[in-house]
Amino acid sequence: MSSFLVLSGGLSPERDVSLRSGRRVAEALRLVVNAEVLEADVDAGLIQSLLNLQPDCVIPVLHGAAGEDGALRDVLTSMQLPYIGATGAAARLAFEKPVAKALLAQAGVSTPAVLALPHATFRELGATALLDGIRDYLGLPIMVKPSSGGSALGCSIVRTAQDFPPAMVGAFAYSEFAMMEQYIKGTEVAISVLETNDGITALPAVEIVPQSGIYDYNSRYTAGTTEFFVPARLSSDVTAECARIAVLAHQVLGLRDWSRTDLIIDESGTPWFLETNAAPGLTETSLYPQALAAAGLNLGEVTKALVEHAILRNERAFTA
Ligand SMILES: Nc1ncnc2c1ncn2[C@@H]1O[C@H](COP(=O)(O)OP(=O)(O)O)[C@@H](O)[C@H]1O
Ligand SMILES: [Mg+2]
Repeated sequence: MSSFLVLSGGLSPERDVSLRSGRRVAEALRLVVNAEVLEADVDAGLIQSLLNLQPDCVIPVLHGAAGEDGALRDVLTSMQLPYIGATGAAARLAFEKPVAKALLAQAGVSTPAVLALPHATFRELGATALLDGIRDYLGLPIMVKPSSGGSALGCSIVRTAQDFPPAMVGAFAYSEFAMMEQYIKGTEVAISVLETNDGITALPAVEIVPQSGIYDYNSRYTAGTTEFFVPARLSSDVTAECARIAVLAHQVLGLRDWSRTDLIIDESGTPWFLETNAAPGLTETSLYPQALAAAGLNLGEVTKALVEHAILRNERAFTA
């Protein structure tokens, strides 16, 4: 009997989210495949378990470092195992938000102005003068985020000069690089992308309206704290433009199988690119499953099709 292995957990701050995503996808897959669906955490025993289990396909559902920075994917590639989703190289481009933004900007997409600096620069040059200059350049409010990572951990809005230093400390707690980005006021939407044999398709846009006003960790993973509208309440022109950008991001970053692009649409109707996730969340409250449901698709069936596709892709890559 075939066996598929869902990898989740890991050591990133998004461990809990990943475990929930992993459980959900494993349960959905079990309902539709005639194969063993195993689940494993990512720890020091991983390579040995992969060697013992020899799964027919791996489904990495890891968020944050190791899962999305490309490392684990390169390990799977080195073991010649088929897996769903982006290669290590592509995941790395998407994971570094300032890099992804630069690539999308080159492709003509609007993305908020950004500066990205490592912690070391603040130590070497002194924080006060640096922050004054950045504030003048970008103008308040400013969004401060770790340059990589997800679930809005370490993200905050700087509305006054006093908010700036603690916001930087918050971002540096999660990553060596922090990004300071022009704040865009508007409607937040997430566009899930699915790539199958039929091509790359954008699923219905999910509009996000958090009760707290900020789509933070709590708003994401506590049921009932955020209102979603699927499809988003957008004009058909803006909807089409969001779909175009999400498909373009998937292509420009070289992603595979599935991805999710986060955008904010300003008052004039312009969508601003924030980031693309190579391993979209799949928990009960996550955006990707909502988009699949709105498109009339089932998570288990979609994952099954991606698994079959990944197995064929691997056979082609490793048979001369
Ligand atoms: N430039 C910005 N302007 C306004 N809000 C932003 C901006 N960047 C991020 N946000 C808010 O912060 C959240 C997290 O940002 P995002 O870049 O998507 O990181 P994550 O990987 O944590 O999802 C977004 O969902 C959005 O609510
Ligand atoms: Mg996001």
